[in-house]
Amino acid sequence: MPSNSISKVFVVGGTGAQGLPIVRALVADNKYSVRFLTRDPASRRAKDLLALDNVSVLEGSFADEAILRAGFRGCDAAFVNIDGFNTGEKTEMYWAMRSYEIAIEEGIKFFVYGNLDYGLKKSGYDSRFRTGHYDGKGRVGEWILFQNQVNRDRMGAAVFTSGPYIEMVISPGTPMTPTVEDGVVTWRVPLGEGAVPHVALEDCGFYVRWLFDHPDRANGMDLEVAIDHIAYADLAAAFEKVTGHPARYIDTDLDEYWKTGPLSRAAHAPAGYNADPNDKSTMNIRDNFTGFWNLWKYGVVKRDYGLLDEVHPNRIRSAEEWFRREDRLGRALGKGGLWERVQPENRTPILKIGEDQRTGKL
Ligand SMILES: NC(=O)c1ccc[n+]([C@@H]2O[C@H](COP(=O)([O-])OP(=O)(O)OC[C@H]3O[C@@H](n4cnc5c(N)ncnc54)[C@H](OP(=O)(O)O)[C@@H]3O)[C@@H](O)[C@H]2O)c1
Repeated sequence: MPSNSISKVFVVGGTGAQGLPIVRALVADNKYSVRFLTRDPASRRAKDLLALDNVSVLEGSFADEAILRAGFRGCDAAFVNIDGFNTGEKTEMYWAMRSYEIAIEEGIKFFVYGNLDYGLKKSGYDSRFRTGHYDGKGRVGEWILFQNQVNRDRMGAAVFTSGPYIEMVISPGTPMTPTVEDGVVTWRVPLGEGAVPHVALEDCGFYVRWLFDHPDRANGMDLEVAIDHIAYADLAAAFEKVTGHPARYIDTDLDEYWKTGPLSRAAHAPAGYNADPNDKSTMNIRDNFTGFWNLWKYGVVKRDYGLLDEVHPNRIRSAEEWFRREDRLGRALGKGGLWERVQPENRTPILKIGEDQRTGKL
């Protein structure tokens, strides 16, 4: 794909927390147009996207070959984030692989796969780190890069490896939703002295746009991003510094976290809301997010921050920087400052799955 050609990008997951800033970054000027897939073109998020210039919609599910084909056809690039919290790990892998195959067949020239770390492999295949929504993506990410060794001239491909959105530290219904206890914002999570390589959604827009803008360098690349590895004592200190209100981190053992933590009520539900609970491959939320916390507690996942500085010199580099920015943006949008926004009655979900309350068709 010559980098100076105007290109039409088919986006799977465009209405999601990750997809929204990616679509916005792609259509911010006239270089790209976007066709996004959604199961519901009448949703608020779909309508917000359709209000942008150079954006069109295709209604349907990624779990449908004919729809994927119709989506790729007439586009020359694609960004694909298959929602594993809908499908579950096994079905996610199937549709992610089929997406890559169908994209080639339909003439896509550059394919970017929305990925997560293959934590199980990175841990040396230690089951304490099994996290279905990470491993499902991570296996396919490796598979795509392997296919790309022979397909790279026909369809370029890059893998975009992100991580837990920092927006989730102030949102309801996430693994790290805080409580407010006697006026103190409190993160009670099983992180020990570990650190979470949180990702800023706005920067995801920049990075994915960069991959499409630099297809020669990006072809075959796994761009692994993060703001920083953020320890939660530092997260709390940054929140205090920016808001002037007290915050703290309380290291919480897994048993307690699963008794009283933010995901405890759904602990035994399948991690993917349409996954078959009777299929022995289906991980429940408790097992899935136990592996997830262990990945951060024991430092399994690495990042090359020097590379990220080169790719995105203005990237967000710390929790404090993100809090400051978010505080300012929230005030400008009339949502109030971070302190107001973190109060339980004022919280709004960052994830569409939170808005939809874990429902929707496959
Ligand atoms: N939460 C995190 O920190 C994080 C970080 C990195 C990666 N991820 C991964 O990102 C994926 C979820 O995306 P998100 O974070 O943007 O969550 P989200 O805000 O809940 O969005 C989910 C997206 O998936 C789309 N979707 C779901 N099922 C679909 C289907 N059958 N056909 C077509 N589109 C479908 C939704 O579109 P419609 O509802 O409009 O159809 C929406 O765009 C998951 O695989 C997750 O593991 C999450």
